[in-house]
Amino acid sequence: MLDLATLPPSFLWGVATSAYQIEGAATADGRKPSIWDTFCRVPGAIDNGDTGDVACDHYHRWPEDVALMRRLNLAAYRFSVAWPRVLPDGTGPVNQAGLDFYDRLVDGLLAAGIRPFLTLYHWDLPQALQDRGGWPSRETAYAFGEYAAVVAARLGDRVTDWMTLNEPLCSAWIGHLEGTMAPGERDLTRAVRASHHLLLGHGLATAAIRANAARPPAVGVVCNLSPIEPLSDGEADRAAAVRADGHTNRWWLDPLFGRGYPADMIETYRVALPVEPGDLESIAAPLDFFGLNYYFRQVVTADPDGPAPFARQVPVPAAVETAMGWESHAAGLEQLILRLAEEYGVRSIYVTENGSAWHDEVTPAGDIEDKERTEYLEQHLAACGAAAAKGAPIHGYFAWSLLDNFEWAYGYDKRFGLVHVDYPTQRRTIKISGHRYAELIAEHRQLAASRTVG
Ligand code: IFM
Repeated sequence: MLDLATLPPSFLWGVATSAYQIEGAATADGRKPSIWDTFCRVPGAIDNGDTGDVACDHYHRWPEDVALMRRLNLAAYRFSVAWPRVLPDGTGPVNQAGLDFYDRLVDGLLAAGIRPFLTLYHWDLPQALQDRGGWPSRETAYAFGEYAAVVAARLGDRVTDWMTLNEPLCSAWIGHLEGTMAPGERDLTRAVRASHHLLLGHGLATAAIRANAARPPAVGVVCNLSPIEPLSDGEADRAAAVRADGHTNRWWLDPLFGRGYPADMIETYRVALPVEPGDLESIAAPLDFFGLNYYFRQVVTADPDGPAPFARQVPVPAAVETAMGWESHAAGLEQLILRLAEEYGVRSIYVTENGSAWHDEVTPAGDIEDKERTEYLEQHLAACGAAAAKGAPIHGYFAWSLLDNFEWAYGYDKRFGLVHVDYPTQRRTIKISGHRYAELIAEHRQLAASRTVG
């Protein structure tokens, strides 16, 4: 049960989106293709052959979307900047028209009293950089640092909350090893090289933001983590769980928090790491906050013939599953928050994404009675409260997502929004979950005010 009093009075309430998933306007004002524009053209890569060409047309409809955020009582909005709008060729000339869009958006948010949380990279690498080697190439990390400097110099007088990468696991492992996300490769060596250059890019971007933002920035990185459990007590399954934890969690957390890459995983991958002197120090630059994205736990069994990490996720019996087939398991969120605080000493944590897709239906009256999403939301907020009650530094929650949007390889069929989007008309309707979220925010605000006054 959610008890709002367990959340700190300063708890920040937000929603999250990403550029390619909502903006559309794929060729407007000088934007050039990203790896996702290319991947969407690969036959069979995306359900229904969907693309992000139009998406939620947020590029043109952002004032309406900011007005929706106000109706939801939001205090913060996490969005990403599209690198191919700002530097259409990845490096070189800056496209001012692309930057102007984010300038307008940031001003609009601030005028609405909503704090912008800006992510620099949510998977839309300029195709031009992919053509020059992509993340497996060290040059891409340097290019990312330069791009970060450009954005920080332009928006850093108003934006104070910055995130470098979103879910590097997806870029490296799903994009380069499993092949179901852009750029669609299946190559362990390239995946491991990509993982290091993503983290190096994070380090370089962190320094670039701090050097170029006019106002003192808070800089963080966003990782999607999962608690891992073995299917059985057998030795093989327990060892598989350790490897899966290494692949999903420790490969990212250990270098970010100054421990270097985990030795057992270097042994598992057996790929030469392209680490150069100074890289690990750059990656481990102290963070102002950590962004945790949480969706599901993993129960795993040994899979010696499968791809690295030789551990396969198995379904959890009797699990409540979302439309993605992901188990709804709120206890996992509390567990991860506590792990970050206790094992890695993290002092400021935001849940930067958490949410669920369901088979939403619009009633004849035009309502979306998404009871499951509402329950999911409350259960996961309760998990934040439980972690806070145990002393964990959980400072805010960003629901994924504001709008139904382009869910990558699943196209538009999977709906995560608190706001329903009717794609043919682009009509937005707040779902019951969105109304409930607005109510919780208002109640918590009142509670916090009464505590401050009392
Ligand atoms: O839609 C994605 C988002 O882009 C990254 N985190 C997970 C979400 C749901 O799959």
